[in-house]
Amino acid sequence: MKLPGIFMRVLACLLFLMLLPNLQAAAAPKCSPTPQDEIGPFYRPNAPIRSAIGKGYILQGVVRDASTCRPVPGARIEFWQAGPGGVYDDSLRAIIFSDPKGRYRLETSFPPPYARRPPHIHILVDMRGYAGLITQHYPKSGRKRALMDLVMGREI
Ligand SMILES: [Fe+2]
Repeated sequence: MKLPGIFMRVLACLLFLMLLPNLQAAAAPKCSPTPQDEIGPFYRPNAPIRSAIGKGYILQGVVRDASTCRPVPGARIEFWQAGPGGVYDDSLRAIIFSDPKGRYRLETSFPPPYARRPPHIHILVDMRGYAGLITQHYPKSGRKRALMDLVMGREI
């Protein structure tokens, strides 16, 4: 009576193959982590906690966990950007903490291009249990607002 043994093995293999995509999906991030970008030479720590550093451009979104896509409340988000003439100064730095739903909202001015770089806003996100995220937002010409979720991977 070898048939039942073989049958059970084939059945087990079929079950495994059927479940494999689900197992892989569970291990893979649900939300793509936000790509890292250069920090650049103008980062300064200890920016003031404030949600506005200018007028005319709104950057907002949700801080999310890459493995679950869930919002991450209480994340510390630092912003800094150049002002007119491409000069970085302390008036264009801010820290915002994501709210209980993981949301953040920065009111600022449209950053100028400088040194052959396109307009950009530097962003650094820090949260216990997560790998630090350093990235940049690139506003599109003519836009007055943008949505940008900040997706963080867990600390290994
Ligand atoms: Fe920059």
